[in-house]
Amino acid sequence: MINPLEIINNDRLSARSLEDANAELCYLALSETGSPSVRTLILRTISNDGLTVFINKTSAKWRTISKNDEAEMLIWYPSLQRQYRIHGVIEELDRAAIEQNWPRRPAGSKYLDHATMNFQAQSQTIDSHAALASYIKEFRETHPEDSLTTPEVAAGIILRPEEIECLDLNSPDRLHDRRRYTLVNGEWKEAQLMP
Ligand SMILES: Cc1cc2nc3c(=O)[nH]c(=O)nc-3n(C[C@H](O)[C@H](O)[C@H](O)COP(=O)(O)O)c2cc1C
Repeated sequence: MINPLEIINNDRLSARSLEDANAELCYLALSETGSPSVRTLILRTISNDGLTVFINKTSAKWRTISKNDEAEMLIWYPSLQRQYRIHGVIEELDRAAIEQNWPRRPAGSKYLDHATMNFQAQSQTIDSHAALASYIKEFRETHPEDSLTTPEVAAGIILRPEEIECLDLNSPDRLHDRRRYTLVNGEWKEAQLMP
């Protein structure tokens, strides 16, 4: 049986070995009320269950997801000339996933996460970049990195795909190969599309 998630995972491994700058990234599009927004995120894992990313619950994107869990993720590997558009529904991962990952985040990211609780929520306005830098500098002096615990606002989410579209630009003469995979009763069905 064709499994587009396996195809993406294999492509990701190839993209990594080709040092593709996009190998660790994805673009997540959300819409609360018909006004779409998109952002770059680090793509953590790809499995048959879906695709996972880590975010902050004080962010604008978390508020959007809470209102509408339907999402589309875009992956583009220039090194392979392949694009994936993954449509599905977002769910929050259980706490264990974030508890396991968060301690491995770079120190700067940990301090930023803490600042979203004590200084300002993510995506909100602040007085200046300098004001944030000064807050974090002070916080760091009184809170060494090993004293930081996983904050409640750190969250893992998984996109559970229902439809995946692959556009492969490798054929000559712009005769692109475009396929749509749809999950029907637990099985992926493939359709060839006009590119
Ligand atoms: C290369 C790159 C990687 C990023 N990775 C993440 C990430 O893994 N998680 C995250 O929450 N934001 C990440 N961001 C920042 C987001 O793109 C976005 O600016 C931020 O999450 C706020 O989004 P929001 O206001 O829509 O919630 C990344 C940005 C870039 C450019």
